[in-house]
Amino acid sequence: MKITFILARRRPLAVSILAGAAALVLGACGASAVVHPTAKDAEWASAKWPGTTVDELETGRALYTSKCVGCHRLPDPNAKTPEQWPTVVDEMAERAKLTAADRDLMLRYLSSASERLRETGGSG
Ligand code: HEC
Repeated sequence: MKITFILARRRPLAVSILAGAAALVLGACGASAVVHPTAKDAEWASAKWPGTTVDELETGRALYTSKCVGCHRLPDPNAKTPEQWPTVVDEMAERAKLTAADRDLMLRYLSSASERLRETGGSG
């Protein structure tokens, strides 16, 4: 107990600051993992769903962040590939009580965000 106390006291301030900064950075990454859609995402999605807009992808994201929480932590969009998402969303759509339109918008968002995160190595 005494040793722990001494070690804790002697931990250099710089280390504490660094640890704090790292936690902040990690926290920020966690929060931004559910990335917002970009024009490039809309362009990518349009190849599959012609005329997809950033606004529609944003709606898909809002649905995702509101309907898919509660049972488990929200997976990052790149937790699945654009090829895998349709099956997963279909399975979960029933659980989350999604309408067909909601499911469609969410799938557009998840697929395009997954594609971009994969291309950029997860940095958004
Ligand atoms: C009513 C609870 C519930 C809701 C709502 C829910 N899930 Fe799930 N989800 C689960 C459970 C339970 C599992 C793990 C068992 C399984 O895979 O069936 C799971 C697993 C998953 C997995 C991992 C599956 C795998 O094969 O790796 C993903 C991804 C996922 N959910 C996405 C979603 C999405 C997207 C939504 C919103 C449309 C959603 N979940 C809503 C209960 C839910």
